[in-house]
Amino acid sequence: MLIASKTPLIRAEEIRSRIAELALEIKTAYPSGESLTVIGLLRGCYVFMADLLRELSCLDIHVKEVDFIIVSSYGSSTESSGNVKIERDIRQDIHDCHVLLVDDILDTGITMQKLINLLNLRKPASLRSCVLLEKPERRLVDIRVDFIGFKIPDQFVVGMGLDYNQQYRELPYITTIIKSEDTVK
Ligand code: IMP
Ligand code: MG
Repeated sequence: MLIASKTPLIRAEEIRSRIAELALEIKTAYPSGESLTVIGLLRGCYVFMADLLRELSCLDIHVKEVDFIIVSSYGSSTESSGNVKIERDIRQDIHDCHVLLVDDILDTGITMQKLINLLNLRKPASLRSCVLLEKPERRLVDIRVDFIGFKIPDQFVVGMGLDYNQQYRELPYITTIIKSEDTVK
């Protein structure tokens, strides 16, 4: 059985201060103070996105709209299959909007690439993307994500919205999953 390790890979305080820095990076990227349409990829984005939105508000960045998109990528519990399907689209027309796309982690990059291509077809004024985590070793496609919280090694992680079989999303830190007998040793 696999469980979440009690020893964080990234502690809650580190995450909090990095998200505040990310908000500053985002503010700098919009020097004319544009209003943002923030689109999150459910379900992984929701904890990070909530924290990020509050940090954006601390910096007086105007958020015009918050919306969500649901995609599923069928595969095993720790491997995404690359077969990305849109389950629920955004409700808003993003034409001429400044869109910030938010996800939990950039793994192979296939999900983000597919979404960036799709949203660009709708002619937003700008489209930038932001992820809490990135696993550079796993990348299969060539995409540029504008704002990245932390680069991590090729390990399956949970917490801050990331799950293992729908568990552990609520953890306020990032940790790896381990065999349960490892905790006894
Ligand atoms: P990609 O299309 O391979 O970049 O996969 C992106 C999605 O796979 C993420 O949005 C996550 O939902 C999921 N994923 C990738 N790596 C992890 C992980 O280490 N823990 C939990 N979910 C992950
Ligand atoms: Mg996800």
